[in-house]
Amino acid sequence: MTYSAIDLSFISSKRHQADLGTEIHFFETVDSTNLCARRALADGAKHGSVFIANAQSQGRGRLGRSWLSVPSAGIYLSIILRPALAKEDCSKVSLVAGLAAVLAINRVCGVQATLKWPNDILLMGKKICGILSEFYSPAPDNYGIVVGVGINVHHNREHFQGDLEGLASSLEIETGRSQNRNDLIVAFLEELESQLSLLVAGSFEQVLNRWSDHCAMLGKEITISQGTSSFRGKALRLDEAGNLLLQTEDNEILTFSSGEASLK
Ligand code: BTN
Repeated sequence: MTYSAIDLSFISSKRHQADLGTEIHFFETVDSTNLCARRALADGAKHGSVFIANAQSQGRGRLGRSWLSVPSAGIYLSIILRPALAKEDCSKVSLVAGLAAVLAINRVCGVQATLKWPNDILLMGKKICGILSEFYSPAPDNYGIVVGVGINVHHNREHFQGDLEGLASSLEIETGRSQNRNDLIVAFLEELESQLSLLVAGSFEQVLNRWSDHCAMLGKEITISQGTSSFRGKALRLDEAGNLLLQTEDNEILTFSSGEASLK
């Protein structure tokens, strides 16, 4: 299938009156769009500035992993957010971004992708999208959140070998249809803007309800790994801060603000 070229004038035309994405920086290749955004944040870049690359030489994932960044095949996008939120509420943006990504993917591609806590997006049980959300404060009066989203769009099966085999996939593999990176980017920015405005308006509960509706993991037996420790139990729900509550076999309720969940 043909790879869609990033069309900046199309994306800008859809975002010119918006809160997020009025300023877009495009790079053929960068180390990591999250690192780009962090450097720009330190230099005072404004809320809503977007960084998109066709390729990353050091794509970064959660928990110190790397992110497969096949040139022109995926969406590699980071955005600087400086929302009117208390610092302790900034971690909620990560769930907001995951919800925005699943809503955008489902709307544009006509699929029913689901969320896996904290913010992986799965289609047919395989990961097609990940979010790396980083709070960054280069100076006491200069802070913000860099939200990085990676979406596997045009990849074929050969791209997912070794550790990723059977675990990761792309929108085109799973739908069997060609997909367009520009439509996905525009939809992601639209959904992020509307979910973020709910959070800022104090309606995080609405975000959590919608997040839970799109999560295929709640009510199921899961394992949460944190470093070398792992915890098994039933994924109950998210609490009002967005932590995952796990009910162990001993009926103890454990609260997780981070970790890696698996359905095994
Ligand atoms: C994960 O581990 O699931 C998070 C992956 C996040 C990848 C994206 S791609 C754009 C941005 N730049 C990076 O280096 N990482 C994020």
